Amino acid sequence: MAKDAHKTSKTSFTAVVVVNKKIGSRFYKLVLHLFKQAADAFANTQPGQFAEIDLSSAALPPADQIPNELSDRVKREIILRRPFSFSSVDAREDKTVLEIIYCIVGPASLRLTTVIPEQKLNIIGPLGNGFNIPDNKTTALLVAGGMGTPPLQHLAKILSEKHPEIYTVAFAGAKSKSDLPFEGRTDEVSEEIGYPIQAFAKYGIESQVATNDGSAGYNGPVTGCLNDWLKANEKDPSEIIIYACGPEAMLADVAKLAAEKNIDCQISMERRMACGIGVCQSCAVECKVPDSNETVYKLCCEDGPVFNAKEVVFLTEKNSHKL
Ligand SMILES: Cc1cc2nc3c(=O)[nH]c(=O)nc-3n(C[C@H](O)[C@H](O)[C@H](O)COP(=O)(O)OP(=O)(O)OC[C@H]3O[C@@H](n4cnc5c(N)ncnc54)[C@H](O)[C@@H]3O)c2cc1C
Ligand code: FES
Repeated sequence: MAKDAHKTSKTSFTAVVVVNKKIGSRFYKLVLHLFKQAADAFANTQPGQFAEIDLSSAALPPADQIPNELSDRVKREIILRRPFSFSSVDAREDKTVLEIIYCIVGPASLRLTTVIPEQKLNIIGPLGNGFNIPDNKTTALLVAGGMGTPPLQHLAKILSEKHPEIYTVAFAGAKSKSDLPFEGRTDEVSEEIGYPIQAFAKYGIESQVATNDGSAGYNGPVTGCLNDWLKANEKDPSEIIIYACGPEAMLADVAKLAAEKNIDCQISMERRMACGIGVCQSCAVECKVPDSNETVYKLCCEDGPVFNAKEVVFLTEKNSHKL
């Protein structure tokens, strides 16, 4: 995938909701159809790219469907758009189909649960860069923490369709089994044959699950699971690439492990994004300047969200320096 394959668009488009279905305690799958110019703009969306969705006019759900801890905050007006990446993008003859997996964390994501088929949503995108697939890799390891799985599911689809020669394994970690944002049971396809996650198995990609409380799969952080795999599978590090998305502390651990093993690693970062189009400067990511002690601030929405793991100064790193 050449770097210039990441085309962005700051135009706003209308998307038609086709499915908005609950797939877990706090997780939903949203399917959107785009037509004409909107379909063209999103047809080549790269894994990791995202859209800014306007949820200012979405309704609140009935009171009994509002989690207690959100009951005060949800009444806030939704002024700013919210960024969401895609778990799948499918360009068909007459339309482009976008799939989003989202988690209820606050007022906008809660209101998103109320949109129904045939309703229209205004979206801007595709925005940001995306994961890049270098030519010299034979193994891709996809490492997801919590809600970091959607762009890696999209990447799994692209790898299986366009790079079947690359051996791919997915690792998905969460605090507990119920925090894994997947449709269906994680053991639907037998764990014994190494395909516990249907979302990756459907692309012929084996997967491993890790939970911090040991309720499913590996007992511990997903980086432990990744480390065990790297120890058990002796491969030339220069032929491996790690792609990761998830909470920043997890990304910092994956970056550290990749650096220790001399493996290239791309990470998709999250920042709160007030505009998503490079105007407000709210999404700064501190990055190292190569061969120097200097750092610069890059924009997560325009220079990212995907960064080379070696360049990012993680917030956890900065905090540990203060101790
Ligand atoms: C590039 C990108 C892609 C994303 N893709 C997805 C996706 O595929 N599925 C999904 O469920 N979510 C995704 N998110 C996160 C999503 O944008 C937020 O969950 C959403 O904006 C929350 O809005 P809210 O009003 O419901 O909650 P808010 O009240 O805005 O936030 C609730 C809580 O979540 C935290 N939070 C909100 N936004 C972010 C953020 N961007 N980064 C870190 N913490 C945040 C807040 O600090 C707060 O504690 C993505 C974010 C980015 C930047
Ligand atoms: S979100 Fe406004 S500049 Fe990045």
